[in-house]
Amino acid sequence: MGELRGTHVPVLLERCLELLAPALGRGGRTVHVDATLGLAGHAEAVLQAHPETILVGLDRDTEALAHARVRLARFADRVHLEHAVYDELPDVLDRLGYPSVDGILFDLGVSSLQLDAPDRGFAYAQDAPLDMRMDQTRGVTAEEVVNTYPHPDLARVLRVYGEEKFAGRIASAIIRERERGRITSSARLAELVRESIPAPARRTGGHPAKRTFQALRIEVNRELAALETALPAALDRLAVGGRLVVLSYHSLEDRLTKQALADRVRSTGPIDLPVELPGSEPTFRLLSRGAELPGEVEVTANPRAASVRLRAAERIDPQARQRGRTDRERYRRRVKAMHQPGTGSATESDPDPRRAPGDTTDEEGEGT
Ligand SMILES: C[S@@+](CC[C@H](N)C(=O)[O-])C[C@H]1O[C@@H](n2cnc3c(N)ncnc32)[C@H](O)[C@@H]1O
Repeated sequence: MGELRGTHVPVLLERCLELLAPALGRGGRTVHVDATLGLAGHAEAVLQAHPETILVGLDRDTEALAHARVRLARFADRVHLEHAVYDELPDVLDRLGYPSVDGILFDLGVSSLQLDAPDRGFAYAQDAPLDMRMDQTRGVTAEEVVNTYPHPDLARVLRVYGEEKFAGRIASAIIRERERGRITSSARLAELVRESIPAPARRTGGHPAKRTFQALRIEVNRELAALETALPAALDRLAVGGRLVVLSYHSLEDRLTKQALADRVRSTGPIDLPVELPGSEPTFRLLSRGAELPGEVEVTANPRAASVRLRAAERIDPQARQRGRTDRERYRRRVKAMHQPGTGSATESDPDPRRAPGDTTDEEGEGT
């Protein structure tokens, strides 16, 4: 294992710990999954804060796992580290014998270890072979994508994953260049991209190759396809009271997260029915209002946090929710009856009928 390059500062660490605490600290042995272990910054803080918690840490990058293993050595008796893509989480949990878990964190994207590695091709600022695989033991490299994809596919990847306005021009430049000879280095690709972008546009939006490199990384690692499968599978494995926190750095990741959570926090029954049909009740409540953003102080200290969007949710017991609703209904009827003429009037000591027992402001799933 090489020297650790750069230091990874865990993003929104305090907020993640705060959101996970009610699930992980509820007594007895709890299980937390860090689906994107990286350099184990979040994982270490969770293990420190919850001395009873078992950690299942996944990463597709063997180098990240090796560093995490060293960092978490003092917790070795309650840590499982797994080389896996996060959509393999159900298989990993089955193998380890955990049918359900209490906390799950996804901190998406690349780690500083990967970005700073001079030999892995993620960074446009350093010349390296065009690899970009997070898992260097399998899959196609960025070099293969750049040298084999037809123009429409290349342009689509750059436009959709990179939100690149000049996707077509860059794809054309890549095709022309590879007819002369194979494109093998990140510096050559970065230069081609720079040359394809009109000069006035080069002056805005950071390095001109940033979006192309991000797009290729997402394509090479099939990041969105894995996330689309992984999120519902992860939600399925949370116990009642268990909590999921997702940190996204790309609008498409955040959209997938929002969609996966929206599917669980709303009823699946017919909207015109006054009662909830069994099995159609919401199974989660949101813990975040929309997507939470980082504060200015954090962004100044850690520029990587600038694009983060946090969303979180908790599994609820639909039956308990239903029972709570029925209790509240009964209570409201009783209070209403007390205000009817001839049944006596409410006194000062009457509880506020607008706030029945068990009634919480986040009944519809917003707020912690
Ligand atoms: C942003 S870093 C996580 C940093 C970590 N939270 C920390 O505090 O050090 C993301 C990590 O997720 C891993 N990763 C990305 N996509 C993955 C996937 N589909 N399956 C498993 N690991 C993945 C990357 O290899 C990288 O190490």
